[in-house]
This record gives sequence, C-alpha cells and structure tokens, in this order.
Amino acid sequence: MRRIAVLTSGGDAPGMNAAIRAVVRTAIYRKLEVYGVLQGYEGLMDGAFQRLEPRDVGGIIHRGGTVLRTARSERFKTEEGLLAAISSMEKAEIDGLVVIGGDGSFKGAWELHRRGVPVVGIPGTIDNDVVGTDETIGYDTALNTALEAVKKLRDTASSHDRLFIVEVMGREAGFLALNVAVASGAEFVVVPERKFDIGFLCDRLHQSRKSGKQHSLIIVAEGAMSAVEMKARLQDTGGYDAKVTVLGYIQRGGSPTSFDTILASRLGSFAVERLLEGDRGIMVGTVCHGMKASPLKSSWEGRKPLNPELVELVDKLSI
Ligand code: F6P
Repeated sequence: MRRIAVLTSGGDAPGMNAAIRAVVRTAIYRKLEVYGVLQGYEGLMDGAFQRLEPRDVGGIIHRGGTVLRTARSERFKTEEGLLAAISSMEKAEIDGLVVIGGDGSFKGAWELHRRGVPVVGIPGTIDNDVVGTDETIGYDTALNTALEAVKKLRDTASSHDRLFIVEVMGREAGFLALNVAVASGAEFVVVPERKFDIGFLCDRLHQSRKSGKQHSLIIVAEGAMSAVEMKARLQDTGGYDAKVTVLGYIQRGGSPTSFDTILASRLGSFAVERLLEGDRGIMVGTVCHGMKASPLKSSWEGRKPLNPELVELVDKLSI
C-alpha cells in the first residue's frame, strides 16, 4: 500500500478534525502518501482529492466541524455513483480509504469494500448509535453542549416554577437524551427505544407536584417525538402548560471535549494501522477502553442498546 485517502461523511461531529489529523500523521509516519477527499462521497465520485502533509493538519485538533467538509450523497447510493467513485480512486492510484462517519456512511463504505476497495471506517456521529464501539466521535461533546443548555433552562424553570420540554438530537437513538436526562437531573426522558405512555407521564408530574416539586424538566429525543407534539399531548391529557426548547444543530458544533479529542486521535491512528495490517471492510472502535476492530456490516445490523441501569436511574432519582 502506497497511497491512501480519508473522507468525512454524513452529519459532522466534533472531533472529526482530530481524527483526520491522526489518520494523516500516522499514514505519513508509516511512509504512506495521504489525500483528503473534499465533501465526502460527493468528492470521491468527482475526484476531489487534495494531498495532505503533516503541516496541513496543524491547528485543527481542537476545531469543531470537518475541514474536509461533508455531505449526505444520494448519487453515491446508485451503482453509477459507486462506479464513478471507484474509477476516480483508480485514476488517482489510491490503494485504501478511511471513512469517518456514522452507520449510513458505513453502508456506502461496505459497498466499496464489496467491489474490492480496501476500506476502514471510523465511527463519528453525535448520535452514538454505531454498534462496535462504546462511544462514537462527537457524542461526548454533544452531550456536554446539550447539558450546558439544559442547566441554564433549569435555572429559569426553577425561578418561574415551570415545566420545560427540551428536544435533543437523536434520529433513531436515545443515547444523548438519556444521558442528558441523567446528568441534568431531569424528571422524565422519552427515547425511541422505549414505549411512551402519556398517562404515566402525567401521573408522574402530578405526583411530583404533590411531593413539593415546583418545576420539572422533560428531555425528548427527536426520533421519539418532537417537543411541540409533547407539549400538545401534555396539554390535552393533563392540562399542563409547558415551555418548549429545541436544541437543534448547536449540538453538532463546537470544540471537541478532551474525551472526543483523545478518542478521535486513537481511532484515526488505529484505522491506518489496521489498513496496513491488511484488515478490510472493518470499522475501528473502543470497547471497555481497548481498541477493537469489527466488521463494518455489524455496525448497522444490530441495535446498540441503551444502558438499562441509566433508564432506571432517571425514574429512581426523579422522585
Ligand atoms: O446523525 C446525526 C444527526 O445529527 C441526527 O441526530 C439528526 O437527526 C441528523 O443528523 C440531522 O441531519 P442533517 O444534518 O442531514 O439535517
């Protein structure tokens, strides 16, 4: 292997730049040439490659977003798109590819692998919904960003004796919502993984008001229900008047936490080492703090479970 490329794909996540830096510098340390692909799979199909040297990735370790830029590509999902990507890699004589993204991006990486392209994936998404790694790059930062916002909302909720609903990101997974709920001391959390019962929630709110609580916080994952819908249901079923906050894209930005920066650096470097060792069609991750490689396919075939202990903790500690 002489020349590899790296791209970021799907939703951006804080720490992606630290991963790019680690890929580039490890590759050069191992005497490989490295190219950055601009705008994810779009750039791969169009041959948008840019040679990267160690100094080109200087000063980016703490920056949010992705210097390579990213995209969600519909064209790449077609056979024509896949063939265009393979042909532009062949033209540029690129022998291996590192894909930084979530499970959707890994599906694309798998299709390249099936057609003979050596690919390794690095999990980067604020949703943390990738099987094969305990945490994905960006999740810890998003969790802390959301938590800071919820702590501020708690101040005003308590001053005014109000009920607040906060919607956090998480299209199909409740990791952010559940962990924000535990860390902020929220009264209730609604996640896609768990059945929701409005009657039960109204009952809980009634009990907590009776026990002397003047304000309450409900965290909802966007994939379970919108905060606006929750407000309407609380009004209809229990007569509650709630204030709504949607945290939105702010959760995707910002400088990565130390956890994400270290995770990204480790995974970026490990991905290149695995590629050099001859691993193909895999993703790298950390399991119980150790580095682990697993088949790309298993990253989306199963569903990563929420920690049931944390689910119970929200109920137990919000009495
Ligand atoms: O996959 C990460 C994520 O931030 C989800 O939580 C969210 O639903 C989605 O991306 C938003 O995607 P887009 O950037 O395409 O609007």
